[in-house]
Parts: sequence; structure tokens; C-alpha cells
Amino acid sequence: MPASRRGSGSVTLPTGQTLAIHTRIQGEEDLPHATKKTMADHLRKYESLFTLTPQRMRMIVEAFTETLEIGLNKPNQIVPMIPTYVFGWPTGQETGDFLALDLGGTNLRVCLVTLQGEGKFEITQTKYRLTEEQKQDDGQKLFDFCAECLKTFVDTNFGERDSALKPGQNLPLGFTFSYPCSQERIDHGELIRWTKGFGAANTEGRDVAEMFKKSLEKYQLPIQLTALINDTTGTLIASHYVNPRTKIAVIFGTGCNAAYMENVKNIEKINHLGIDPAAEMAINCEWGAFDSFEHEHLPRTKYDAIVDDTSNKPGEQAFEKLISGRYLGEILRLVICELIDEGVLFLGQNTYKLEKPYCLDTAFLSLMESDPTDELLMIIGIFTHFFALETTLAERQFFRALAKLIGRRAARLSSCGIAAIVSKMGYLEEGCMVGADGSLYNKYPGFADRVHEGLQDIFGEKGRNIITHHAEDGSGVGSAIIASYDKDQERRWIVHSCLNYRQDEGHCDSAKNRQIAM
Ligand code: BGC
Repeated sequence: MPASRRGSGSVTLPTGQTLAIHTRIQGEEDLPHATKKTMADHLRKYESLFTLTPQRMRMIVEAFTETLEIGLNKPNQIVPMIPTYVFGWPTGQETGDFLALDLGGTNLRVCLVTLQGEGKFEITQTKYRLTEEQKQDDGQKLFDFCAECLKTFVDTNFGERDSALKPGQNLPLGFTFSYPCSQERIDHGELIRWTKGFGAANTEGRDVAEMFKKSLEKYQLPIQLTALINDTTGTLIASHYVNPRTKIAVIFGTGCNAAYMENVKNIEKINHLGIDPAAEMAINCEWGAFDSFEHEHLPRTKYDAIVDDTSNKPGEQAFEKLISGRYLGEILRLVICELIDEGVLFLGQNTYKLEKPYCLDTAFLSLMESDPTDELLMIIGIFTHFFALETTLAERQFFRALAKLIGRRAARLSSCGIAAIVSKMGYLEEGCMVGADGSLYNKYPGFADRVHEGLQDIFGEKGRNIITHHAEDGSGVGSAIIASYDKDQERRWIVHSCLNYRQDEGHCDSAKNRQIAM
């Protein structure tokens, strides 16, 4: 009779579900399981597939840096390096009440942000869950839903604050729309493509700010859309507002992207606009698209290729698909399914639950990596509770090691992106802070440490000069600060000189002269 051991515990999943584990571990010979040695052999194979050497990372950084330059020089590149028309850093003295609407990957959030100056703020917010249907339905309907939620929020929060809203007065709103949009002004944005599994019809190629304004009118809201921003741009500005050493912002969540502040003179593709070359403008890199279509630079495994081929956007967002929270669980699931097909894992058990695409949430990888018990009770709980599968300790150790390989690769690739911006901007010697946000960065155990380790592998000791920190709420606070830029006279001047030129387009010579004279 094999010895039996017991263990119990409970854990709250990021989805809000509580997973209670009461485990009785029988001997491992009642089902045909892979031996410890077999699992170790397999692990070696995956180690070589998912491990990035420092040398390989440096090659990626080189190609990445070049790609960033090309995106700044020429329009419509794969990594589009989008000029945001957000001019310069906040002073920290911005004040006032602003609304912020945040349409990210999972939720819709409405915030009322009161900027108090000196880098201080207060925030009141409500979250609304988006359904899968809303993500795929007609785009105008999605914006109507956003306006409807805003209306509920305004009615609730301003109903009694008559001093805040006088008749005819409009509230300024910053709309954080976290998808690639090419912009001609701060309150404009043509959706280049949906990412993160969204696919709402009749939206790609259209000005989403215009579509949203239409929805605002439909609900007769006393609101003026003053800025359309990306979450990375908001994060950059918000993090700098409270920590002026922040020069770069990154999001590692359902999607993955970065923003930084560029000198206008280096954004060659907009030189003809005649904007003061000495001004600074935030660039939304949209680096998730790095290596899309061609797949020349990134170490893609066959599992990554399957994730890509079966996505709603094959070929696109190649970098993001190796890193972001939307895909890591699926990569692990595909490896496990391969071993099921080869007859290595779960012989004699029904694996149908695990065969459903995207059923293995990236949150499970976090839990697997952070399981503190010797028996790996958390992993037992995940497999029995969600997939009705029994595992041996050797298998659980294998799953944990696999999660670690996939999570570590994501973090090290993220270091490559950060290193590319650092190299391009020459920030290594003086060092800089990188404001980082998103579920992977905030919740995945050891993600930040791995990013830092990656930066040192790329740059050596000097890599220590680049420090990531948990960012301020970019989509709320950042969006409000940017909406407040509209009141700023100097910035208005830059924007207007740029707009005047636009109205006068075709007179390139005068623009050039103006540029030289400035
Ligand atoms: C989008 C970016 C966004 C990032 C993080 C990506 O899929 O293309 O615009 O910043 O996700 O939310």
C-alpha cells in the first residue's frame, strides 16, 4: 500500500475566484505517469528552445534600435513610432478636475481625477467589464457603451456638485485608447489595427476620436474630448509627474508597448510640419509589432508560431505575442498538449479540458511559479480543480520549470526593448527610471528582477543604471495631466503653429524656412 500524504490551502486567483485545495497524495503508480528522468530529458529540450543568451539579446537590441530609428524617419512602418502631439514633460504644477476614460484590454474604467499640483492628485473611479461580444461587435456600439458608462458616472458624481458643472460648461476628458492609432493632433487617432484579441467591425482605418465624439453627442454629455492617448503615453507622463527621473514607460499586461520623450528634430517623418525642432514630443512606439510578418529577429518556437497562426491577427504583434499576459498561458498549454499527444503526459486520463485554446490563464503560471509548498500543492489544485487531471510531483516540477522558462523569456525580451530605447536615447551612462505597469509586471513573481537581470546581461554592470519601478496610473492620472496640457499657453503655441502649417499644407518652403528660423 503506497503512503498517502495530505495537504490543504486556499488561494484567491486574479479572476477573483477562490481556489481551495484539499489534497491527498496517493502513491504515484496507480496511473501510468512519466518518470522523473523522462521529464528531466524533456525539460532540457525546452530549456534550449526558450533560453535567451546575452549574445542573442544584444543582437535583438541592435535590430530593435534600428527599427525604432526607421519608424521615426519614415511613415507607416511596422513599428510605427507614433508622434502623439503630447509636448514635453509635466511641470508637476498642473491642477484642476478632469475626466479620464480608459479602454484597455479587459475593462472599461471611468475616472474623475483632481490634480492638486506638486505631483499630487485624487482619483474617483468606476470599472465596467467588457464582454467578448462587445470586443467583436460594431465599433460604434462599443463607443456608445463607453459614452453610456460615462453618463452613469457623471450623473452619479456630478449630480449634486452643481458648483463643478455650470450650464453650458463642458468637462475636459482624456480618452485612453490603448491600441495603435496614427495621430495628426492630440484629439485625433486613426486606428491602425486592433490588438489584444479585439476585432470590433468598422473601426480599423477610422478616426476613433470622431466616432467617440458621435457617441458623446448621442448621450448629450457635457464633455469635451481634449486628448486621445495611449496607455504608455499616459504612464510616461503620470510617472514623470511624481518621479521626474522617469524617461521611459512600459506596459506589460494583456498587451505590451512602450513610450518615451523624443526631440522633435529627431522625428524626421514630421519635419515638414514645421514644429519647433527644439520641442519634445512623446512617442508611442507600438513596439509590440517588432519583427511582425518577417520574423527575422526574434527566437520564435513552433508554439509561438501556432499562437500566431491561430490568432485573429496572424503575422501581427510578433514581439507582443512572446511577452504579453494574453499569450504566455497559451504557450505553456501548447507545450503540454504536445507532450500529451506524444503519450508522455496524463496517459489514461481524459485531457479534453486542457485541449481548449486559452484555457490556461497566464495567472496560473504566476501561481505555479510562486507555489511555496514542497509538494507543489497549488499546482495540484490547478490541475485537479480546473482540468480534472492528476499529476505526480515530477510532472508538477516540470510544469513549474516550464512556466519559469516562458516567464523568464518574456522578461528578457522586455529588457531588449527597454535596452533599445536606452541605447537610442543615450541614457545608459546617466541612468534613468522606467515606469512600468500591467498585470505581468505587477503580479508575475520575479518579473521585474528578471528584466533587471536581462538589462545587466545586455549592458554589463552599467545595466544597473536602468531601474524599472511601478508606474503611476497612466490611463487615469496621466490622461488627466495630458488633458490639462490644453490649458497650457506655451504648449498651445506649439500645437497651433503646427496646425496653422497644416491648413497651409503644400507650402513646404515656408515651413522649412520657419523651421530654420526657429
Ligand atoms: C497595443 C498598445 C498598448 C499595449 C498595452 C498593445 O496591444 O497595441 O497600444 O499600449 O497593448 O496596453
